[in-house]
Amino acid sequence: MIEFQNVVKRFPDGFTAVKGLNLKVHEGEITVFIGPSGCGKTTSMRMVNRLLSISEGKILVEGRDNKDFPAEELRRKIGYAIQQIGLFPHFTVLDNIAVVPRLLGWDETRIRKRVDELLDLVGLDPDVNRDKYPRQLSGGQQQRVGVARALGADPPIMLMDEPFGAIDPITREVLQEEFLQIQKEIGKTIIFVTHDIDEAIKMGDRIAILRDGLLEQYDTPDNILAHPKDRFVRDFVGSDRSLKRLGLVRVHELMDTEKVPSVRIRDTVEKAEQVIKEHNVRSAFVVDDDGELRGWVDLDGIRHSPKSLLDAMTEADYHEIGVRKNNTAREALSAMVARSFRITPVVDKSGRLLGSITLKALQDLAEQGWGDEEGNGS
Ligand SMILES: Nc1ncnc2c1ncn2[C@@H]1O[C@H](COP(=O)(O)OP(=O)(O)OP(=O)(O)O)[C@@H](O)[C@H]1O
Ligand SMILES: [Mg+2]
Repeated sequence: MIEFQNVVKRFPDGFTAVKGLNLKVHEGEITVFIGPSGCGKTTSMRMVNRLLSISEGKILVEGRDNKDFPAEELRRKIGYAIQQIGLFPHFTVLDNIAVVPRLLGWDETRIRKRVDELLDLVGLDPDVNRDKYPRQLSGGQQQRVGVARALGADPPIMLMDEPFGAIDPITREVLQEEFLQIQKEIGKTIIFVTHDIDEAIKMGDRIAILRDGLLEQYDTPDNILAHPKDRFVRDFVGSDRSLKRLGLVRVHELMDTEKVPSVRIRDTVEKAEQVIKEHNVRSAFVVDDDGELRGWVDLDGIRHSPKSLLDAMTEADYHEIGVRKNNTAREALSAMVARSFRITPVVDKSGRLLGSITLKALQDLAEQGWGDEEGNGS
């Protein structure tokens, strides 16, 4: 979709900011460019839509050299959200979003319709916001308008340079979530620049780590966290990369649905004891006739009340002790640590027991990739 081939950028003062970049951006994916300040992220991005000329090498867009596109066609194909929002202060929200459609000569009716559509998409009420000026909006709202503007002419490609850089961490998380939702619908090919590794891991289908104008490592977030290529990448992703990896995996990918230690509330105490021993665990989950999780029973409880499972079990609310399929493994781990569980039940929204997840499974996952740590180029 976008391919950098030996791309070099030398500025007129002789400084070489990009030193032979080779990289393929895949269609429909978010590719994150990340690296220390000055490593060439913005420069690389601006060569894609020819805001900067290329000194050597070339960039293919949809298989064609980007120099062969008429400028107008590139503008239509490639939306651009610039570093620090960059709305025009004396333009209304409508006029800001309409910039590219107007350049393309759309008629005003079509433009108004598109602007309202985009404001809806980014979660701003068109009637309330259309005629406001940027200074009348909060930082987060301005950022949303910036994203709407980049989507103006419905380009297949978007360049987003630290689009959420200028805002507080909480609003930023909201915007990240919203944007991922939007991307699910629109499926654009996106280059997304950030220097926040957590943002890169969350937003990226792939991450390109740049250093001094060169590509240091290019892979999926999971592979980068599991197999950082050298010390630079390892330091860059941080010492808590195991935990970060757990944030990428959902509970349903790790849960066991077969060997779940569970008994029915009307089962006997003997049965419970047998299940606990068979599974080699300390406790079994107790479910009612509808399969809803009602608590757990352990050997201690059985010793105290050897006659009745109802007496032996510890009743608990499934919201309290269960995790959901779509929780991340990292969330499951915090839940388990908080409750000192070595195994935790996975429940659906009405509390039915779907499976279980063990502390061991989480530890194994976190440790994958640590084995080949040393002797790997650093
Ligand atoms: N017009 C220019 N002339 C000379 N050098 C430039 C010019 N523009 C940028 N540079 C240099 O090129 C290098 C890369 O700049 P670039 O803006 O691409 O960095 P970046 O990775 O986007 O950094 P940041 O994270 O701070 O935005 C920097 O060292 C910068 O000083
Ligand atoms: Mg930059």
